[in-house]
This record gives sequence, structure tokens and C-alpha cells, in this order.
Amino acid sequence: MDIAPDRSAARKSDTVPPFLRALAGVAVSPPPIWIMRQAGRYLPEYRETRARAGSFLDLCYTPALAAEVTLQPIRRFGFDASIVFSDILVVPDALGQSVTFHEGEGPRLAPLENAAAIARLDPSRTASVFERIYETVERICAALPADIPLIGFCGAPWTVATYMIAGRGTPDQAPARLWSYRDPISFQALIDLLVEVSAGYLSGQIRAGARAVQIFDSWAGVLPDAEFERWVIRPARAIIERLCRDHPDVPVIGFPRGAGANYSAFVNATGVNGVGCDTALPLSVMRDELSPLCAVQGNLDPLVLVAGGEALDREAGRLLDALRQRPHVFNLGHGILPETPIAHVEKLVARVRQSG
Ligand code: CP3
Repeated sequence: MDIAPDRSAARKSDTVPPFLRALAGVAVSPPPIWIMRQAGRYLPEYRETRARAGSFLDLCYTPALAAEVTLQPIRRFGFDASIVFSDILVVPDALGQSVTFHEGEGPRLAPLENAAAIARLDPSRTASVFERIYETVERICAALPADIPLIGFCGAPWTVATYMIAGRGTPDQAPARLWSYRDPISFQALIDLLVEVSAGYLSGQIRAGARAVQIFDSWAGVLPDAEFERWVIRPARAIIERLCRDHPDVPVIGFPRGAGANYSAFVNATGVNGVGCDTALPLSVMRDELSPLCAVQGNLDPLVLVAGGEALDREAGRLLDALRQRPHVFNLGHGILPETPIAHVEKLVARVRQSG
């Protein structure tokens, strides 16, 4: 007799939180909602805690404060998923590269200058840094209600590498692209290192209590086809293969922002359980090409949430209607903007919940 538990049935039962049911491929009504960067400067309570922490990285590395800001948007809006408060650039910081954040300027890193600088990155330093984030994860999970899962995350190797090489966000991440053409061997070594460290980091977040993970590839959209395959798809697949082996029940969301016509190749080749869709991706692609393959998440323009009013009602309605019978996680197509009025977020949550 086969006594193995039927996991797929268990995941789809009503005791499983809506967010995880959607990621298991179920059309949940109303769809679960969370918002990328849901802990952030649009919230006065975030700004207050951030000021107390000192620097942005101090906030990320102080478990009591990072857990507090993670929970703030859950308390205020009752989202269906929580995401650990941290940043994708803790990975280069943990590897020994200097990373700082200045108000209004975005991140600044001491740019990697040559192959020797890649060789000096030190993975043996990462454990003690990641430990603090795992402690944050544990604290959050102890405080969250059972039906609100915590998402762990990391930056995708390509996107993290673009910041490590340029030292900052640039309009087209040309420095990393140039490096990859001029010296693909050392660039591959950097990507391989990031695959290894990021897979271990996600695994650690899962062991600490995260019930899903998201891989942010914010700069996937600047690459030509062949490079997209090499620097976006292959590293994501390598990370996901390792997660599938070690944590087969934990769903993975990929977010290859700007991938356009390569979105379905990304989903097919990586085996993600959910895909984050940027603002420019046609809703018909989300519905007809992607939702038969995995859960679809995102797409609402963050500026529509700033604008509110009729535009918000109309655009949210368009997404809800088109994806009604599909596995759908309601979200924005990119992070929430600091100028977003809180009342508009409240309206959006109510609008999504009324759609069920
Ligand atoms: O979603 C959440 O609430 C979790 C927290 C989170 C942050 N950054 C906190 C943050 C997540 C998931 C990220 C991911 C991240 N960080 C990405 C990928 C997603 C994306 O937006 O494309 C990238 C590219 C970064 C790098 C980064 N960190 C940038 C470019 C900036 C500056 C832009 C800005 O909004 O200031 C940051 C800083 C940052 N990360 C802030 C927050 C809340 C704002 C810093 C502050 O509070 O002063």
C-alpha cells in the first residue's frame, strides 16, 4: 500500500494559505495580494524605525528592527504574504565588497575593477552575516499568523553582478555587459560564485522558516537573447535545481523584469512555480502564455497606485477579470513608490478582496 502523503492534494486543501495555494497552481478567489517593497518609505512607521536604526544596512542587520518593519505592512493592510526586510545587496556586502546606502541616492558599492577583485571576494565571510537575517526570519515567523507565509528572497546573480561591477544602478547596466563580452571567463566565475552563495542563502532562509522564495532579476531586460539565456536563465535554473533537491515543497517565484518575449522561455527553462510580471508585459501574455505554466504575479503599474481614483479601479479590475480562472497573485509590476498614498493601498486591498 502506498502510504506516502499526497502532497499535491494537501497543498490544494483549504488549510493551505491562499498565497501558497495560488503558487501550487490553484485559481484562488479572491486572489492573494502582497506588494513588492511593501515595507518602505511610504509608511510613517517605517520611516520612524529606519531613523532609529541609523543606516539602512544597520536596519537590515538588526533582527528586532528588521522583523518590526517586515510586520508593519501586515498589521496595517493584512496582506496575504510577508517578505523578509532586507536587500539584494546584502550578498555583495557579505562577500566583503563595500556597500552603502545614502538617502535619495540609492546604493553605492566599491566597484569590482578586475578579475583579481572577483577572486578576492570571500564566501567564508557570508555565514556570520546571513546568520542575522536568518534570525530576523525566525522572529518574523514566530510573530506571523499561520495563514500568512513569509517569503525569503535574493537578487538574481545577473542583477547583483551589475551592481557589483558598476557600483550603482545605471540606465542600462553597460559596465557589466561590457565586462561579460570582454572577459566572459571571469564574468562566469562571478556568476558561479553568486549562484552558489545565493542558493545557500535562500536555503538558510527556508530552514529559518520562509515558506516561499523570490529571486529578483530587476535588470534581466537589458540583455540580448543569447546573453539572457546564459546570464539569466542558466543561473536561475542552477539555483532552483538546488532548492528543488533540498526543499522540494517550497515554491520559487522568478522575477525576470523586462524579459518581454523571453518570459515564457524563462518559465519553461527554470521550472519556477510563479513568475513576477513587470508593468510592460501584456496582460494577454500573462493569461494565455504564462498562466498555463505557473502562477502569475504582478503587472499593476506602481504609478497607478500613486494616482489612485478611477485609474486604479479600472486597472486593478482589468487584471482581476483577465486572471479570474487562473493561478494569480495580485502585486505590482515593480516596487511600491515612496510617494504612494496609504489610502490608495487600502483601496486596492479592498478592491481585490471584493472581487472574490
Ligand atoms: O519588499 C520588501 O518589503 C522587502 C525589502 C526589499 C528592499 N529591497 C528594501 C529596500 C526588497 C525585496 C528589495 C529588493 C531590491 N533591492 C531590488 C530588486 C527589486 C527592485 O526594486 O528592482 C533591487 C534592485 C535593490 C537594490 C536597491 N536597494 C536599490 C536600487 C535601492 C534604492 C532605491 C530606493 O528605493 O531607495 C535600495 C534601497 C532600499 N531597499 C530601500 C528599501 C526599503 C529604500 C532605502 C531606505 O529606506 O532608505
